Amino acid sequence: MDSSMNVAVIGAGTMGSGIAQVAAQAGHKVVLFDTRREAVDKALVGLRKTLDKLVEKSKLTAEQADGIHGRITPASDLKDLAGSGLVIEAIIEDLGIKQKLFAELEGIVAGDAILATNTSSLSVTAIAGRLKHPERMVGLHFFNPAPLLPLVEVVPGLASDEALASRCATLMTAWGKVPVVCKDTPGFIVNRVARPFYGEAIRIYEEGIADMPTIDAAMKSVGFKMGPFELMDLIGNDINFTVTKTVWEAFFYDPRYKPSFTQQRQVESGRLGRKSGRGYYRYDQKQGQEQVQEPVPTALSAIITERILAMLINEAADALFWRVASAQDIDLAMTKGVNYPKGLLAWAEEKGAAHWLGVLERLQAQYGEDRYRPSTLLRTASQGVSLIR
Ligand SMILES: NC(=O)c1ccc[n+]([C@@H]2O[C@H](COP(=O)([O-])OP(=O)(O)OC[C@H]3O[C@@H](n4cnc5c(N)ncnc54)[C@H](O)[C@@H]3O)[C@@H](O)[C@H]2O)c1
Repeated sequence: MDSSMNVAVIGAGTMGSGIAQVAAQAGHKVVLFDTRREAVDKALVGLRKTLDKLVEKSKLTAEQADGIHGRITPASDLKDLAGSGLVIEAIIEDLGIKQKLFAELEGIVAGDAILATNTSSLSVTAIAGRLKHPERMVGLHFFNPAPLLPLVEVVPGLASDEALASRCATLMTAWGKVPVVCKDTPGFIVNRVARPFYGEAIRIYEEGIADMPTIDAAMKSVGFKMGPFELMDLIGNDINFTVTKTVWEAFFYDPRYKPSFTQQRQVESGRLGRKSGRGYYRYDQKQGQEQVQEPVPTALSAIITERILAMLINEAADALFWRVASAQDIDLAMTKGVNYPKGLLAWAEEKGAAHWLGVLERLQAQYGEDRYRPSTLLRTASQGVSLIR
């Protein structure tokens, strides 16, 4: 799979346009298809602007920029994808629509073409479920913005060819990405392990322990670039709520992932975050977002950060326990996909697993809720077994 292989990207929205740019930057000819032709045109106009800025900043030469833009060809018919060796789908997150698209594609592309989905929350196995040859299907989960965030979760489905994941991981490395191979389980690594960053922050707010700016400030004080509420507003509360709900349902309603009314109400009221001018914070006023000016009192900061970190570490340990990915890849995923200041398993080792187990056991005793149940692996590690070796 070298750069002479033609790549097709289906869906020219947020993700598809970014993925097309990444593939073209890696030297591939790219065909970009969307059922809405205007989406492809908009993507190409957007790409031109992005490339011009990179030239202005001397990150690309004008020739390189023209080359990247010139390698992307708009397609108006799915049949135009016939010569592609790799097809990456980034369309609407709907199982039936994705299955139908891949079934149609199977009759168009060559027998050895790889079919990849950028799904965030659906099962790769299910998307491949209606294929005659599901062995050629794989998840390639890029992060937004795809040209900037290095992580790609490579997800083989149950029926995927055994060599496919490592072939795709090699290709992603050649594209300058950081691939991690993970099991086809809900939320893969990042969207599973990161859930408590949002969910536990909302819970702390709902209980009246601290307000949103205080929780955000506390989390930033331990190294996160953005606080949970700021980040939810950036991601979009509708998108974040859907992922939370999907992961919770996919885990057969495990209380650890239970969504919150607070987030649901934000969505219902149209307070979607930055994109709608208002979310947890306001973005439609000159003074901008409310900021905490005063430092958060140390004791309160410790309550907030210990609780959210304990839940995050527990989730990372549990993902390792269930062999979703290796310890190294779980830590890599959180630093390269969502910019965490440190890998959570490495972070756990600093105070030791017994410390975090203690935090969770106290929460479980206080609330009597299964939400706080510690992972079996955290218990084992608390006896002195390293989580990362
Ligand atoms: N936005 C993110 O942060 C993010 C991150 C990682 C993965 N994803 C996943 O990537 C996929 C796309 O997400 P997005 O945010 O880019 O969506 P988007 O709404 O920005 O773009 C989707 C595009 O797909 C097109 N489309 C819909 N149905 C189609 C079909 N049948 N054939 C061809 N084109 C079709 C739409 O016209 C639209 O232009 C989803 O599966 C999503 O879960 C999104």
